[in-house]
Amino acid sequence: MTMKEDIAIRARQIDEIIMRMMPDITGPQKTIYEVMEYTMRAGGKRLRPMLMLETYKMFGGTSKVIEPFMAAIEMIHTYSLIHDDLPCMDDDDYRRGKKTAHVVYGEAMALLAGDALLNYAFETASNAFTYEEHLKDAAKALKILAKKAGVFGMLGGQVVDVEMEGQPLSLDEIEFIHKKKTAALIEASMMIGAILAGASEEQVQTIKEISRKVGVAFQIQDDILDVIGSEEELGKPIGSDEKNQKTTYVSLMGIDQAKAEVEELSEEAKSQLSLFIGEDKFLMDLITYLIDRDN
Ligand code: IPE
Ligand code: IPE
Ligand code: MG
Ligand code: MG
Ligand code: MG
Repeated sequence: MTMKEDIAIRARQIDEIIMRMMPDITGPQKTIYEVMEYTMRAGGKRLRPMLMLETYKMFGGTSKVIEPFMAAIEMIHTYSLIHDDLPCMDDDDYRRGKKTAHVVYGEAMALLAGDALLNYAFETASNAFTYEEHLKDAAKALKILAKKAGVFGMLGGQVVDVEMEGQPLSLDEIEFIHKKKTAALIEASMMIGAILAGASEEQVQTIKEISRKVGVAFQIQDDILDVIGSEEELGKPIGSDEKNQKTTYVSLMGIDQAKAEVEELSEEAKSQLSLFIGEDKFLMDLITYLIDRDN
């Protein structure tokens, strides 16, 4: 089995966990449930819950307390995509191989579905508090989730990304955007996995460093695929960054240098991670896959 196939199988197992936490499509406001479901179901690699679960297992976690957080991170990620695709943002018409939410349901419903997923993510994550023996760790995890999604994390990165459209950026500015808009949710995923498994403060900090590298590499690879990828594989349009006059690592340094940077960051992440890894090498392979991916 190839890594891509392995990931796809695991993604479907993750779907079973997270999709049953979605609201039923019923009642006067059922349109919103439908839009939420439409984008959540559209596919997606489920990398964030996968990284969360694998990190959790790596630190010996065995409880279902992880599940509400797996669903929550994917809901937050999906909301960020719905909003990222809106006409006032990147204005893209395809996502996860389907028409974007605003194309199908209109802008107002897409905006509301994003808001809905963000709120529902926290409602879902708070279900972890029913696992009383994990109460303290769940509280810590909830705070990380909020912080990494908000103005200090993903949302902060999106602000600078949008504000800087059409302007030349320095490498430091690009790095800031990558750390925030993309790495923050990857950091949250792996840190929450570690925290819920009872990892020490020091271990969580190391996981933060590793996941930041993974996240930045992931975004540079996304920018590479925006230039040389295939729409069919990606399920979203290529050339979005050029269309929106984004300065990216690729536009600034060229494809070859971008590929070298992705390689270097992921090697660093893997060598740091190897300090923790025992027999299970799926997480290492997953990081390798992230840089070799074509979707
Ligand atoms: C896309 O994320 C947005 C970025 C942060 C680059 P993914 O590539 O993980 O998107 P899905 O979830 O598989 O659709
Ligand atoms: C988006 O970066 C990061 C988010 C927080 C959504 P991009 O705008 O490059 O993501 P894609 O290429 O549309 O998936
Ligand atoms: Mg964007
Ligand atoms: Mg975009
Ligand atoms: Mg992109």
